[in-house]
Amino acid sequence: MKTVLSGIRPTGRLHLGNYLGALRNFVKMQHEARCFFFIADYHSLTTHPDPASLHENIRNVLAEYLAAGLDPEVATIYVQSDLPQTAELSLLLSMHAYVGELERTASFKEKIRAQPENINIGLLSYPVLMAADILIHRADYVPVGKDQEQHLEMTRKYARRFNTLYGEEFFPEPQPYNFGEQLVKIPGLDGSGKMGKSEGNGIYLSDTDEAIRKKVMRAVTDSGPTKPDQPMAEPIANIFAIMKAVSPASTYDFFLSAYNRCEIRYGDMKKQLAEDMIALVAPIRARIEEIKADGAYLHRVAAEGAARAAASADVTMRRVREIMGIKPL
Ligand code: TRP
Repeated sequence: MKTVLSGIRPTGRLHLGNYLGALRNFVKMQHEARCFFFIADYHSLTTHPDPASLHENIRNVLAEYLAAGLDPEVATIYVQSDLPQTAELSLLLSMHAYVGELERTASFKEKIRAQPENINIGLLSYPVLMAADILIHRADYVPVGKDQEQHLEMTRKYARRFNTLYGEEFFPEPQPYNFGEQLVKIPGLDGSGKMGKSEGNGIYLSDTDEAIRKKVMRAVTDSGPTKPDQPMAEPIANIFAIMKAVSPASTYDFFLSAYNRCEIRYGDMKKQLAEDMIALVAPIRARIEEIKADGAYLHRVAAEGAARAAASADVTMRRVREIMGIKPL
């Protein structure tokens, strides 16, 4: 059975784009592969969040993952810092990671620009730590977005380098996992681009009904089509794309045909979209709240996840130490 691993930095709440995109696929995938889902809190530290918000974000992401349907009995769900073996592997891998290649990483160059007052070693070695996350379970596949492809490429490079240096095919070279057609991309409500946490254009799984209505009603539209079957401007196409992912097909068809006949009323469409979103989000939000209120449950899930992750990591680390010449005297 193939091993799949996915990591997420705890930097905010999950939005509908996360849910309808990757998360729903993860829920299916957990039954089809040996899956690890972890919360990359070490990586978050590279941008110095304050301790209280880091802790709260970890709780939120864990509760949201569980509410979305990741099953801790089926998949291994854990917090990165609960698996210190990752830090050890990162240290060992760093001995074969060259500063020059890390300095040339796109994400590092971007961070230098974004936070020139805080160019810490963690930022430079970010891809090494990420390689350790992946290689510690000897994962075969990692579902990643465009922005993480270079990091995964570096993971393959470090795996290859290790195998070549020590003359043993120990680490598999992890491949990007592509959901293909299955991966629905959800645009934002602000007229352009995809739904993302940074742009403030999204609907969060934790949003109240009122917040959802407000955000949807404020979504960017235009003055409407003036001739039949007029091509849609991007903001309109985006609202239709969201509706397609959220509403029943008959609702989508109804508004599409109204658009094509120049009889569309965006206000009505947005009202309907908001209600359909609420029908989707409200039960998830309730589950998030329920899970977050049960501190003992969260604690147990994290502890059991960490124990399962450790069992896998220990097998890897025992061999890595041996290969590198670190053995009992
Ligand atoms: N760097 C990833 C991000 O920003 C998070 C991450 C850390 C990750 N370690 C990983 C993703 C390992 C996949 C595999 O989104």
